[in-house]
Amino acid sequence: MSKNQEDMSSEAPAKLENKQDDKLMEKIVSFAKRRGFVFPSSEIYGGFGAVYDYGPYGVELAKNIKESWWKAMVQENENIVGLDASIFMSPKVWEASGHVSGFSDPLAECKQCHSRIRVDHLLEDAGIFADEKMTEEEINKLLNENKDKLKCPKCGTKGKFTEAKSFNLLVQSNLGNFTGDWDKEPTYLRGETCQGIYVNFKNVLDSTRVKIPFGIAQIGKAFRNEITARQFIFRKREFEQMEMQMFTHPDEDMKIYEEWRERRWQYYLDLGIKEENLQWHKHENLVFYAKAAWDIEYKFPFGFKELEGIHARGDYDLTQHSKFSGKKLEYRDPQTNEVYTPHVVETSVGTDRTFLAVLTEAFREEDLGEGKSRIVLKLPKKLAPIKVAVFPLMKNKPELVKKAKEIFDKLKMEMMCEFDDNGNVGKRYRRQDEIGTPYCVTVDFDTLETNEVTVRNRDTMEQEKVKVEELEKWLKKKFS
Ligand code: GAP
Repeated sequence: MSKNQEDMSSEAPAKLENKQDDKLMEKIVSFAKRRGFVFPSSEIYGGFGAVYDYGPYGVELAKNIKESWWKAMVQENENIVGLDASIFMSPKVWEASGHVSGFSDPLAECKQCHSRIRVDHLLEDAGIFADEKMTEEEINKLLNENKDKLKCPKCGTKGKFTEAKSFNLLVQSNLGNFTGDWDKEPTYLRGETCQGIYVNFKNVLDSTRVKIPFGIAQIGKAFRNEITARQFIFRKREFEQMEMQMFTHPDEDMKIYEEWRERRWQYYLDLGIKEENLQWHKHENLVFYAKAAWDIEYKFPFGFKELEGIHARGDYDLTQHSKFSGKKLEYRDPQTNEVYTPHVVETSVGTDRTFLAVLTEAFREEDLGEGKSRIVLKLPKKLAPIKVAVFPLMKNKPELVKKAKEIFDKLKMEMMCEFDDNGNVGKRYRRQDEIGTPYCVTVDFDTLETNEVTVRNRDTMEQEKVKVEELEKWLKKKFS
């Protein structure tokens, strides 16, 4: 039995040690900026809290993560189809979903420095676990019981906090509001992508040949007015979700739920994440309509934290939208003619959290002996931003540059490539190692004689001769 299966069959395993590695986090943040993966938003203006931009290599890595998710969800499952719903939706959507009234985090103020603090995080920092689904009353009870142990993260004052109040996380906009009266006619940037799926349930059903059980998958931006800006791209105010909603028969949902729990766990193993860096967290405090909620947690440098949520949501979403819109959101079984409101099984993960997990997993500082070292991103090949780098051995030898350019121009039509003739070959290898390029191809004087290039492997650092006319096929085989 694999660890996965053991976990599936048991109750939530005891939490593993949740150690922080602040040094590693600092290294990853500065590396991500230095090598063009992640930049703070609007940095020349001093940055903008909990908002980040992906740089040239980051955008490639994020794209490859999304492609891998889309392949695993849509391409490989004939009963899952894709969707791209708009960020703006009717404000009624957010009333029906319960976000307007209940999508909030507990907020308190430090009485000393007046900074605003998310109370469940404050408790967590003191080693007191607060489930994010706790009510205001439950959170305040914990806050009062543990006041003396709690320290303001900004000024360090102990035990001086206001009562926790629920702070709504929806981000308002003035779209279509010409009166300027924002509170009367609020429109929102979507707080989660799945609402676009629920409101299109009938459109997909009527326009395709899907039959229950079927899923709708979507990747897109979501926005939340997160109280605290911390932990880099783990908690952003503008972020991206990859969500899949499976519509099931009410009697089948828990079986399908268990299947998806297993499949999503396996997905991360296939993404190169070590099993010891993953764990399950079972939510005990379920919202009234939910049948089950488990998170897959990853061991980020700041400890085990939620990477993906897998939820059995019952018929709540379709029932609510049916009630608020007045439209029937039901399914008629073509064989039995049974009519029912489908139950939903949801898998929901952030692109940004997957990015941070993959980067953390791949980031290595290797000692090469004799005082030498390298930083290398041991990314799975399918996720590497650049697949191949092509170098002429020397930049001032036109015949080498010409040959290397020819090879580069051909390869770039097939995969993301980079041409580099700057500095010595050793330095170029180090640069490519840092961004996780699996292969470097060098054109030297022998190439002009034998038509063979040297291909160097990122992980083993071994070199191999490959005929130029076979290079493309050779590389494609390595990536297949
Ligand atoms: N539709 C269900 C839903 O949105 P959630 O647990 O609030 O559930 C799902 O979010 C996933 O979205 C999380 O597991 C996480 O990966 C990602 N996510 C949520 N809030 C985020 C934030 N502020 N920044 C980055 N990713 C976030």
